[in-house]
Amino acid sequence: MPDPAPVLVLLGGAGDLAMRMLLPSLYNLEMDRLLPEALRIIGVGRGEGDAARYRAEVKAALEAREPVDPAGWERLAARLDYCSADAGKPDGARALADRIGPPGELVFFFALSPSLYAPVTRALQGAGLTGERTRLVLEKPIGRDLESSREINAAIAEAVPEGRVFRIDHYLGKETVQNLIALRFANTLFEPLWTNVSIDHVQITVAETHGVGDRWPYYDDYGAIRDMLQNHMLQLLCLVAMEPPSDLEPDAVRNEKVKVLRSLRPFTRASVGQDSVRGQYGEGVVDGEKALGYEAEVGRPSGTETFVALTAWIDNWRWAGVPFFLRTGKRMAERCTEIVIQFKPVPHSIFGGAAVDDLVANRLTIALQPDEDISLTIMNKRPGLTEDAMRLQPLPLSLSLARALGEEGGRRRIAYERLLLDALRGDPTLFVRNDEVAAAWRFVDGVAAAWAQAGMTPKPYPAGSWGPAGAFALIERSGRTWND
Ligand code: BG6
Repeated sequence: MPDPAPVLVLLGGAGDLAMRMLLPSLYNLEMDRLLPEALRIIGVGRGEGDAARYRAEVKAALEAREPVDPAGWERLAARLDYCSADAGKPDGARALADRIGPPGELVFFFALSPSLYAPVTRALQGAGLTGERTRLVLEKPIGRDLESSREINAAIAEAVPEGRVFRIDHYLGKETVQNLIALRFANTLFEPLWTNVSIDHVQITVAETHGVGDRWPYYDDYGAIRDMLQNHMLQLLCLVAMEPPSDLEPDAVRNEKVKVLRSLRPFTRASVGQDSVRGQYGEGVVDGEKALGYEAEVGRPSGTETFVALTAWIDNWRWAGVPFFLRTGKRMAERCTEIVIQFKPVPHSIFGGAAVDDLVANRLTIALQPDEDISLTIMNKRPGLTEDAMRLQPLPLSLSLARALGEEGGRRRIAYERLLLDALRGDPTLFVRNDEVAAAWRFVDGVAAAWAQAGMTPKPYPAGSWGPAGAFALIERSGRTWND
């Protein structure tokens, strides 16, 4: 018998994530002819519908983004099917199994609420869909805290071994995030300096201009610390701070990341007031337009933070004494995702007079959004003749990835493209392991518990600003400033 065609099942296939990210990514992969030849894609949802209606919905979602190539669309449409079923119920999972037919290679993408991960996995198992060639791809967040994530991971482990569980953090699919590994370990320039001897501090900012909109039922239960910090921000921190892995094998990289997470200093009731800030946006103006406050969007009072800033300390030899300032928020002044490595000033200045005032320390900025750009400010002599012997100025050595790579760089990819492809190929390097999730939750649970003990509620900030005043005080207390 020929091997059955591989099947990608999108659980929550008609939902927001599928329509906004997954199907556009699959379309792009189709356009580049990167999808496995015989791959079938089945969207699963509780809503009524059939393949024809699903294809029409998917096409409309794609067209809302950009013009759709007719031939590429035809190829993708031919793969698409829809199964109206509640995959968390035995009947629904059986209906899905019938639609799949004899199982070959099966990849289930859970674009669902995390509370459904365990029941759906059990139902899939009951329907005989978790055999040796099944992989599960789980969206973050896995649970809401350490305990709930353990329950989910335990239920999943009963059905599928860890090696076939792919936990997505879509930040790891971003080109610049992977480039961070190349920057650190494919150059001799940075690594010898990448320690507390030369680095003064690190800043990681993920600022978004949009609000929570109609995602609020999910968001209000999670807040910025669980939605962004537990995963995306801590993953970025890990890639900046980890030791060189022995190679790029999945476990080599993940072993190093988990060591960083385990070295994070826990927050306490005594430290949390100094080392963290919670905020919630009120009304304001974003991109020239009036924006509602968070509570007006939610329709009731809420104690959920839409902004968090904190000082993280990594208690190991490499990073002792180097603060990592992290901040993320919605409805901020600008969309900006960046990592800033601030080096220490020169140990002794030979420049006297006015030049000494111009001397600033080197700074490596890795911008992920809106543009991908890596720049290193270095000191130069200002050209020309001045009254003083020499005046200095910082200038950026800049590597705009779009400019540098030109044609070869191609279009900017959706982060999910890389991850979907890796999941289909079975490469887990860019996915998050069970123990990483646990270590990240342990840290975040500690912050949340310290907030509760200290009675810290979110401070208001106007939509369109850089967060509450406390976020500036947090970094300025240490004599440093945000790179705004
Ligand atoms: C998601 C969060 O994981 O990441 C969203 O749930 C957030 O709240 C999004 O907006 C940000 O992703 P990106 O790629 O736009 O920075």
